[in-house]
Amino acid sequence: MSTVIYDSEHADESREFSLLLAITTILSSSFNLKETLTHIFDVLHHNVSLIKGTLSLYDAYSYDLKIEVSYGFSDEEIKSGLLEKWLVVSNKTLDTEQATIIPHVEEEVSIIGEHDPELLNDESFICIPIIIGDSKIGAISLDFQYKNDKNLFQNIKFFSIISLMIGQEIKLMQLLEKEKESLRKENIKLKVDLKEKYNIHNMIGRSAPMIDIYEHIMQVAHSNATVLLSGESGTGKELVAHAIHYNSNRAEQPFIKINCGAIPENLLESEFFGYEKGAFTDAQETKMGLIEAANGGTVFLDEIGELPILMQVKILRVLQDREFTRVGGIESFKADIRVVAATNKNLEEEISQKRFRKDLFYRLNVFPIILPPLRDRAMDVLLLAEHFLEKFSKENSKEINDISQSALKLLNDYDWPGNVRELENCMERATILCQRDTILPIHLPNHFQKNNERLMIPEGDDSIDSFTLLVENFEKEIISNALDSTHGNCSKAARTLGTTHRILSYRMRKLGLSKTDFRSSDK
Ligand SMILES: Nc1ncnc2c1ncn2[C@@H]1O[C@H](COP(=O)(O)OP(=O)(O)OP(=O)(O)O)[C@@H](O)[C@H]1O
Ligand SMILES: [Mg+2]
Repeated sequence: MSTVIYDSEHADESREFSLLLAITTILSSSFNLKETLTHIFDVLHHNVSLIKGTLSLYDAYSYDLKIEVSYGFSDEEIKSGLLEKWLVVSNKTLDTEQATIIPHVEEEVSIIGEHDPELLNDESFICIPIIIGDSKIGAISLDFQYKNDKNLFQNIKFFSIISLMIGQEIKLMQLLEKEKESLRKENIKLKVDLKEKYNIHNMIGRSAPMIDIYEHIMQVAHSNATVLLSGESGTGKELVAHAIHYNSNRAEQPFIKINCGAIPENLLESEFFGYEKGAFTDAQETKMGLIEAANGGTVFLDEIGELPILMQVKILRVLQDREFTRVGGIESFKADIRVVAATNKNLEEEISQKRFRKDLFYRLNVFPIILPPLRDRAMDVLLLAEHFLEKFSKENSKEINDISQSALKLLNDYDWPGNVRELENCMERATILCQRDTILPIHLPNHFQKNNERLMIPEGDDSIDSFTLLVENFEKEIISNALDSTHGNCSKAARTLGTTHRILSYRMRKLGLSKTDFRSSDK
């Protein structure tokens, strides 16, 4: 609590003004109501002989007036119920919406309807309602040493200004509290959403290798074991890291991803461990590092294979001793973290090339999970394609609900070097390009067509026949696409291709195409 110095030299001339200044300073220094009011009462005690004070506010739920802050009451006085009497006066004051002023309590018969020896002292009493606009917020009651100080105690305006200032501050605090509460609720909802998003039941893929992955996630999630995820780019390592966290006991705590390959080498240590004030020129304040921020939760060390050797030693210490030291500091901090690391590099190969420390590898490789490439789980391709189609249709406000047979064949035949991410991108692009309700081969990237066996020159056959076959296959592809997009409607397909119905029918007969083959996608 900072000390506000009241300038007593000018007290006689501008005591009220100086007090107002002091109170404004206190009000702007904290959002803690009890702390602020106690500080204000303290200033009034030192400067205008305040003996006791209370702030009573209406309870947000019951609308009953309750004493929120009291000052100068002894434990015995509180036990004897003196605060209740003050509350009665505050209630009365709020009922009348007028300040209660008793310049000299001793001279007053009673302020609560009967003689009360505890209140009949050599004191002055004031109770001011706090009313902002139309809303009654509460009341401030003040009990001063009687001084026959007409200037101050007759100046009810002065105390009304103070109560108004306090009232504004309380309103602001209540608004902030409301905001905080709604943020807290939103935070809980987002956490529930995240937990749901990373529920393994929402992961796509029913192939045997994926079923194994789900089992591994469930086996390891609840332990504290370090997990090493490996697999080609785009196979779902980050998704699995999230799934481990959100299915663990640490789900309510932070999940902090550190991309080891993206942080400049000279910043790595301070990003990981934070730094002490003065550790280097720019370190004007002590700063928490990512390991500290993850305390109680999970640290996801992505692209761990990119970590420079020097930094590998420092991470090893965290894994071994669960301890770290901030840059420029000497104190060791405990790190209650669960570590999940990921790499698309072959770490054993990196070890043999002396780019990765063997001891770190063994510390990480406690529970290895290897994500299979998409080409090894062909049956998941269509499930994933449909999943992404639904996702991107929704995102782009489109109603695309089908993938044509020929497009499905292209997706199936492709070997997906970029794995699930490539499939995801491919379906997003297709959804954007597609203007109807079905994804067609023309909506897939050009290099997919190259994979299409119908456009491949048969191996070891360089005769003119194979050229004719190639052209025929190409023509068949174009006409199939047009029929696909018109659901077998030959007139429309002919118009799309810029030809006549008669020519199209002739070519279809020659190529063995039937319009009924394209009606399956008709919705
Ligand atoms: N089984 C799955 N079900 C649904 N979406 C998936 C699945 N696997 C991966 N994805 C999605 O594919 C994209 C790539 O996955 P992720 O980022 O987890 O891969 P990664 O292995 O970390 O890739 P990289 O090595 O390139 O960092 C993400 O958008 C992810 O949501
Ligand atoms: Mg990744």
